[in-house]
Amino acid sequence: MPRYDILVLNGPNLGHLGQRQPEIYGRQGMDAVPGLVRELLGPRADEVALRFDQKNGEGQLIDRLEQARAEGTHGVVLNAGAYTHTSLALADCLAWIGVPAVEVHISNVWARPEAVRHTSHMARVVVGVVAGFGIDSYALGVAALVRHLKQPSTT
Ligand code: DQA
Repeated sequence: MPRYDILVLNGPNLGHLGQRQPEIYGRQGMDAVPGLVRELLGPRADEVALRFDQKNGEGQLIDRLEQARAEGTHGVVLNAGAYTHTSLALADCLAWIGVPAVEVHISNVWARPEAVRHTSHMARVVVGVVAGFGIDSYALGVAALVRHLKQPSTT
């Protein structure tokens, strides 16, 4: 059975999901994600080895992505938090490491009132974007990424 090592990486202010502004980010934490992935993938979830990490700093996120490359991680599901909208450095990292990434957001960033949230530096260097499904966005991102890794030309 093929095995996909996937890093689910959260950026700043995403270390307290469930407590942070639950009206926007919901009441569930990252511990819900493996169960949601299993709901989506069924027995195929056994093909996926998930690793979770969270960093508040921009440089720490870049270091973690470089580490993922060095470890041969097959793909990254990245919620870069506010760095999504500001970090050229993080986008530059994704552009060179050669590890396919899916950008995820818990909230629908385009439906939020602050215009700054409507742009993403990540979007042009990722396979695709999932946003607005609450904590399910991570599981949907994992499912989409695994599908892409299996059939990169059709997704
Ligand atoms: C977020 C959206 C960002 O605009 C915000 O800065 C976050 C979380 C989301 O998951 O909805 O920290 O990425």
